[in-house]
Amino acid sequence: MEKEQITQAKKEAIINPKYPRAATYDAAWQLENEDGSPCLWLMEALARKMNLKPGMRVLDMGCGAAMSSIFLAREFGVQVFANDLWVSASDNMKRIRDAGVDDLVVPLHAEAHDLPYADEFFDAAFWVNSYQFYGTADTYFNEYYGKLVKHGGQLGFALPGIYREFDDLVPEYLAKHWWKEFYYFHSLDWWTRLFRRSGTVDVEVADDFGGDGNEIMMQWEPIPDRMRLVRVDAGRNMTWLRIVLRRR
Ligand SMILES: C[S@@+](CC[C@H](N)C(=O)[O-])C[C@H]1O[C@@H](n2cnc3c(N)ncnc32)[C@H](O)[C@@H]1O
Repeated sequence: MEKEQITQAKKEAIINPKYPRAATYDAAWQLENEDGSPCLWLMEALARKMNLKPGMRVLDMGCGAAMSSIFLAREFGVQVFANDLWVSASDNMKRIRDAGVDDLVVPLHAEAHDLPYADEFFDAAFWVNSYQFYGTADTYFNEYYGKLVKHGGQLGFALPGIYREFDDLVPEYLAKHWWKEFYYFHSLDWWTRLFRRSGTVDVEVADDFGGDGNEIMMQWEPIPDRMRLVRVDAGRNMTWLRIVLRRR
């Protein structure tokens, strides 16, 4: 995807006092490596609800440019498997080495239906702006992730979503800006029902980032110039969702 110009205004906007840990990371680095979300804000807010301890082994699934993986390693001293499909492991390795955390972060290139991990390998797992691309099928969760995290471990999701499911097609006011794959945007009720039905996890947290989900979307929207959909929605239905599960 073509990157927009990194302006001073965008640099200032990405340094958000609500996310003080993320604010210590270089603004230009965050903008150069973003892929549609303020992933450090989301990871910081998600991690507040997770019980991370140094030395834990965690999965950052769909990590993109591995910024969130670097963040987890630096902030919490955890060992991170930075798994992505569109970004190569070699590209991520360069960023991981530059960030000085190559002793803690392992870059991997693997597709979400062909994962190389042993059952119960991870203490915890994260998905930031990623699970919706491959995880909406009823049977997917138990087949691929339910078993990767140890019993009692947590699984954290940050998902772009909607407050209310559409009755049928996307409403008229959004139709012009809608891509057909955006039907993977779902509500909190939709996602939590999917996970509850798995029968293998309990839902510990399910919220719109403590009421900040839409604000995060609106604050982020002017930073990459391409998010017209969010601008048109103007706070009516689109939001970020946070879900934390615990494996039984
Ligand atoms: C929108 S990007 C988000 C990247 C990063 N988490 C962030 O928030 O900046 C979605 C990521 O999901 C990953 N992804 C999408 N489909 C996937 C699949 N089938 N298997 C593994 N990863 C996938 C892509 O490689 C991509 O980097």
